[in-house]
Amino acid sequence: MNSINLNITFEQYAGISELTLADRALCERSEQALRTSYSPYSKFRVGTAIRLASGEIILGSNQENLAYPSGLCAERVALFSIGSLYPDAVIESMAITAQTDNFEILKPVTSCGGCLQVMVEFERKQNAPIEVIFYCLNGEVLKVPSVKSLIPFAFVEDRLER
Ligand code: THU
Repeated sequence: MNSINLNITFEQYAGISELTLADRALCERSEQALRTSYSPYSKFRVGTAIRLASGEIILGSNQENLAYPSGLCAERVALFSIGSLYPDAVIESMAITAQTDNFEILKPVTSCGGCLQVMVEFERKQNAPIEVIFYCLNGEVLKVPSVKSLIPFAFVEDRLER
């Protein structure tokens, strides 16, 4: 029997004022993305801004549906739109934030497992790390250098090979 310990490294900031200008701008764009959230059922808005190597920033927000499982998280809305509009784009970084009128969110909201699975496939496809910034509006920020550390046991394509 082996006992294996996996560590993850990330940076913690008290607020976006401590970030580099580019990261701060990305967080501000994720805040802008909240405005297009369609979340009448959860009333929980999630926004993401994704910076491509070209410098272009793509936004996404959660899109819900009356048939609840048909809705999609902000991260996947943005990533799949990049996949379909710019299939060869390289993603440098993504910022994610959330907001609700029902209570104050005091900690950064981190991505669900389904989104991490999609994020890690984009990372593997481009063979370069994607930075992830989880941003709590007016509060703490967590910056993770690559998606892989967040989902070390992701389902990966070699499982489909003999
Ligand atoms: N949501 C996201 O957009 N991203 C996540 O990583 C987790 C949850 C959305 C889905 C749903 O519209 C709302 O947040 C409440 O679960």
